This record gives sequence, C-alpha cells and structure tokens, in this order.
Amino acid sequence: MPTAVPPSAEPRPADPSPRRAARATVSAAALQHNLRRVRELAPGARVLAVIKANGYGHGLVGTARALRAADAFAVARMEEAVALREAALEQPVVLLEGVLDAQQLPLASALGLEVVVHSPEQLAMLEAASLARPVQAWLKIDTGMNRLGFPPEAARDAAARLGRCGNILPAPRLMTHLACADERDDAVTGRQLERFAAALGDLPGERSVANSAATLWRPDSHADWVRPGIMLYGVSPFADRTGPELGLQPAMELLSTVIALRTVRRGERVGYGGVWTAREDTRLAIAAIGYGDGYSRHLGSGTPVLVRGQRAPLAGRISMDMIAIDVTRVPDVEVGDEVILWGAGLAVEELARLAGTIPYELLCGVTQRVGVTMR
Ligand SMILES: Cc1ncc(COP(=O)(O)O)c(C=O)c1O
Repeated sequence: MPTAVPPSAEPRPADPSPRRAARATVSAAALQHNLRRVRELAPGARVLAVIKANGYGHGLVGTARALRAADAFAVARMEEAVALREAALEQPVVLLEGVLDAQQLPLASALGLEVVVHSPEQLAMLEAASLARPVQAWLKIDTGMNRLGFPPEAARDAAARLGRCGNILPAPRLMTHLACADERDDAVTGRQLERFAAALGDLPGERSVANSAATLWRPDSHADWVRPGIMLYGVSPFADRTGPELGLQPAMELLSTVIALRTVRRGERVGYGGVWTAREDTRLAIAAIGYGDGYSRHLGSGTPVLVRGQRAPLAGRISMDMIAIDVTRVPDVEVGDEVILWGAGLAVEELARLAGTIPYELLCGVTQRVGVTMR
C-alpha cells in the first residue's frame, strides 16, 4: 500500500538556480518594434493584434502588456479573453470564433468583449438574448476560405439582422479571412477581395481583411483594421523569407543549458533507435530540452543549434527532455553553457522548414514547463 506523504508545515525551499533548463525569453522591445512596423506598412488602418494561442507561445498577458499600444486584441477562446481581463487589461478584445453557446453571451457583454458572428446559429443566439450591455459584433463573410463565415450572398441579410438587433452596437464591423495570402497568390487573394467588396457594397461598418501576409504585401487589403499575428512576433508569414528580411525583429529566443559532455568513439551510435553513428571520435554536449518542451521531434540529426555563438548539429533523435549536439568543432564547451535553439542568429523559419512545418506551429508548441520571461 502506498503511504500518503503528510503535508509539511515547513516552507519548501525555492529553486536557488536562476536558470531553468529550458526557457524562452521574449523581447518587449522587439514586439513593440514589430507593431510600429505594422503601422508603417498600414498607416491608415487600426491594428487588431492577434495574440491567441498564448500569444503564439510568447505568453498571453506579457505579450498584451508589451503591445498595449495596439488598438485592440484578438483571441480565439473565451478563456483567453477572461485571462486578459483578470490581468486588468481593459483594451477592446475580439473573440475571433465568437461565442460557443448562448451562455457565453452575458459574460462577453459583462467583460466588454467583441464577438465575431460567423454562423446562423450565432446570429440567432444574439437575437434571442437580452444583454445588459450591447456588444460590438464583427460579421464574418466567407469569401473562399470555406471555414467560418456567411456566404457572400447572405451577407446583406445577416448585416441587416444584426443592425436591427438590440444586443449589438451599431454598426456591426465586417470581416473576411484570406486563404492564400502567405503564398502571395494574386489570383486567389484578388478574387477574395472582389467577393468581399461585392458582397458588402456600400453597407455601413468598418472592414477588416488583412493578416500579416496581406499587411506586408497587399496594401489594397488594409481597409479599416489590419489583423496581424505572426509578424508581431518578428516572424515571416512567407516560406521564402525571414522576419528580419521584412524589417521585423524576432521576439522569442528559445534556450537551454548543457548538462553533460562526453566523447563517443567513431562507429558508436547515439540516442533512441541509434539512428546517428559517429563518423569520427565525437564530442557530444547533452542539453536539457526536448519535445516535452515543444522542441519538435521532427527536427532530425544535422539541425543546427547555437553553442558559444557557433552552429553545431544535432546528433540523433530528440528525446522528451534532452538533445545531443555534436560540438566537436566548437572549442571549450562546458557544462552550464547556454544553447540557443532559435532566436536572433538562428531563425525559427529555418527550423520550421527543417521540421516540415510552419513557424507558427513551433512557436505555439512551446509547452507550459518552459519558463517565458519578458525582457
Ligand atoms: C481570423 C484571423 N485573422 C488574423 C490572423 C492572424 O494571422 P497571421 O498570424 O498570419 O498574421 C489569424 C490567425 O490565424 C486569424 O485566424
């Protein structure tokens, strides 16, 4: 029988080390620079800063505080909006997926949240509610993404119904989302813009179309509000560019620490599955980060990391908590040295390409146990 450990009256000692094995630092100055870059590109538009998914992994509340000069924030879920209000952030907050059910409407109203209305069900919920305070609505039109939104031919009727709804502030805002802006696909993006314009005609209400890619490349999409996400974090939405090439500053650095060193002989295999074999006597540094921290296991041998400012390749598979790095050509590596997984000097865009994914997934994938520090 397992015996229960009695709760101790003694305070537990705090971890005296200032270091966490795997950690991320986020530069508030970089976030603010990137917001200024958005304003430079879209001088006539207001900025709805997209900070969903824990601020793309950068920390929801810290990111919102750093970006307090944005005109409004966008999140995907009610929990995220509640967390912002609990942190005393009083800026306008837009729920990009709207409410899940009618019960969330009074909460949205009480917290002063703005709701996207993308479906007949959400429209009916708003019409049936009796809210103490009307909310700002963003009517979403589906111009080709085929995910959320009213079809263009239903836009005018939905806008008219929202206009008559006492639970909505006049006038509802009007939005759509672009499917291929990151591919700089002129034909698809142009068609979406045309459909949006044709569906709405001269309806009153501010308009919003542009994500980061369109903010960077399609000034004709800027309208009244741009909705940048990834570029605020200093990362490129385009597969063939990095953030700095677009005048952005990467905000996050993902870091770890060397916890062991060893030399393996030529011909020895390393890590789970033994998929990497030393071609020469090799100096290995073991660093405390793995897929349990969000460092993707799809990154294979040869993936670069920075040790003592130099690129060094991964050797073998990524474990849950550790990686092995071939530091044969990096002089004087010691236990305790810092390892940079991505950040300035090693673009997360490069890592994403190597992992066969997009930087969004790597950034959002940074897990809870990685301490994020805003500096
Ligand atoms: C509706 C909507 N607008 C804007 C964005 C921001 O996109 P990006 O991060 O590519 O700028 C997103 C992100 O997925 C979104 O879902």
